[in-house]
Amino acid sequence: MSIEVNGLHFSYGKGKKRLTILKDVTFSVGKGEFVGIIGNVGCGKTTLIKHLNGLLVPVTGNVTVDGLVSSKKEVCRKVGVLFQQPSKQLFCKTVFEDIAYGPSNFGMKGDELEYCVHDAIEKVGISSDILGSSPFSLSGGEMRLVALAGVLSSSPDYLVLDEPTSGLSTFYKERLFRTLELLRQNGVGIVLVSHHLEDVLGVADKIVYLNEGKMVFEGAPEEYLSSLSLPAPEITVLMRGLSSSGLAVRKTVFSVEDAFNEIVGALSEKRG
Ligand SMILES: Nc1ncnc2c1ncn2[C@@H]1O[C@H](COP(=O)(O)OP(=O)(O)OP(=O)(O)O)[C@@H](O)[C@H]1O
Ligand SMILES: [Mg+2]
Repeated sequence: MSIEVNGLHFSYGKGKKRLTILKDVTFSVGKGEFVGIIGNVGCGKTTLIKHLNGLLVPVTGNVTVDGLVSSKKEVCRKVGVLFQQPSKQLFCKTVFEDIAYGPSNFGMKGDELEYCVHDAIEKVGISSDILGSSPFSLSGGEMRLVALAGVLSSSPDYLVLDEPTSGLSTFYKERLFRTLELLRQNGVGIVLVSHHLEDVLGVADKIVYLNEGKMVFEGAPEEYLSSLSLPAPEITVLMRGLSSSGLAVRKTVFSVEDAFNEIVGALSEKRG
């Protein structure tokens, strides 16, 4: 059971106005697998993930979800997508209605629906005080959390998140990653799009790196960090520099904490 993207090509527009965005993209997302999609501004990340729940259809190639062609109606229920701009995802009069929209469409009601909404807000960390508010009266960060709760309430088999951490404080960001880890442990396949390499490298099983619509890398984070031709986190660049200056540190470290430990260890070995 997986999402399979095979030889995906996609263009916006037709004839002379045709703009080719995705060129031969192939990768998969298994159940319980965490895939990070990274790449420069405008390289086609959002366009790519719109194919995973059938919002866009490939010009050539194909996308299947658990064997179903992505344009099939059932795929919308299997793949939950948190869009880059949450305001585009919210449309009900109250936060409660927005979060309840998916499950009530699938026939849930009464106490079960009430429980489902409260479970979703608990997972993302928002207070039940705002359930009666209009989603459009919320801050940008709150809107993103409500939109995420609305996606989670439908219990998708695959969760796709487009820049979910933008506008979130460290507190909510950490909570989001804890929730994603729990979902992954429960077998949910996760696709996370981010500009922040460090966010993705720390949690993903697999990295897909897009450059101008082409997939130029697919592999494990450690392998990504070992490649000198791909953009690297600043800490990794520092560690590479220290290593080539003769300090015995790992060159694939990307967090401040690990870098600190690595440097302290290498220095004490040198002294001792
Ligand atoms: N509906 C559309 N019609 C025509 N061109 C579009 C449309 N949506 C996006 N594009 C173009 O496709 C390219 C890729 O856009 P996309 O939003 O997929 O990039 P992205 O990698 O998600 O960028 P960002 O990191 O800024 O979110 C951009 O050049 C954009 O202008
Ligand atoms: Mg985008």
